[in-house]
Amino acid sequence: MQSSLHLAIIMDGNGRWAQLRGLPRLAGHRAGERALRRVVQAAPDLGIRTLTAYAFSSDNWKRPPAEVSGLMLLLETHLAKQAEVCLRHGVRLTAIGRRDRLPDGARRAIDDIEAVTRGGARLHLRLAIDYSSRDALMDACHKLRGHPDRQAVSDSLNSPDVDLLIRTGGEQRLSDFLLWECAYAELLFTQCLWPDFGPRELDCAVAEFRRRERRFGGLPNGVSGIPSIDRNSVIQSRG
Ligand code: IPE
Ligand code: IPE
Ligand code: MG
Repeated sequence: MQSSLHLAIIMDGNGRWAQLRGLPRLAGHRAGERALRRVVQAAPDLGIRTLTAYAFSSDNWKRPPAEVSGLMLLLETHLAKQAEVCLRHGVRLTAIGRRDRLPDGARRAIDDIEAVTRGGARLHLRLAIDYSSRDALMDACHKLRGHPDRQAVSDSLNSPDVDLLIRTGGEQRLSDFLLWECAYAELLFTQCLWPDFGPRELDCAVAEFRRRERRFGGLPNGVSGIPSIDRNSVIQSRG
């Protein structure tokens, strides 16, 4: 039985996907939404129990107003359509990030789907919307008193450690996504543009993850350490 995974995805490349086809950027975002649905369906069979998908960063407000409002509308309609699908497939959907800056329709859609899907036990899908990891960390720290330890910060963030992070679209950066939670995540960057990402690509990514050895600062598997230290030779070699 394979262990359960927390997969995080930076779904990047929608704009370029559209541009390559001579389409408006919003067509790329719509295709990106379809890609997310395919990946969500495929995830549980690969041992993924938590999937955090970056849908809109707090820095994405800098984009032209027409793109931002198109994205917000897409989000609202996506959530409205997904409630029934989530229920059918045992998906619990929640959002992370700020809600106070979202349009009313999007905020209501999040509240509704969170309530309707709260019993989903097969997959926890977390959509990061108006999300900034640095802001989330600052909020978590403000809630803590005294000298919190790592566990207290993790608890305050209420966000599990990431096992595998995939970023599509070719860029190799985190763009303020799950900075604390990715401390020991395996990182996988692919040129594949997000709308082209599907179950086959997910399968390959998880297989690559399973081949990697995670050491968390320890030694590779099968290496038991330095058998015995000859103090004299260490001192002599220092001159
Ligand atoms: C990611 O795709 C989706 C969002 C950031 C909302 P982009 O829109 O960043 O696509 P590119 O990077 O311009 O191709
Ligand atoms: C990160 O992509 C945010 C999402 C995928 C939602 P961006 O396209 O906004 O990131 P940068 O600007 O290239 O770092
Ligand atoms: Mg981008």
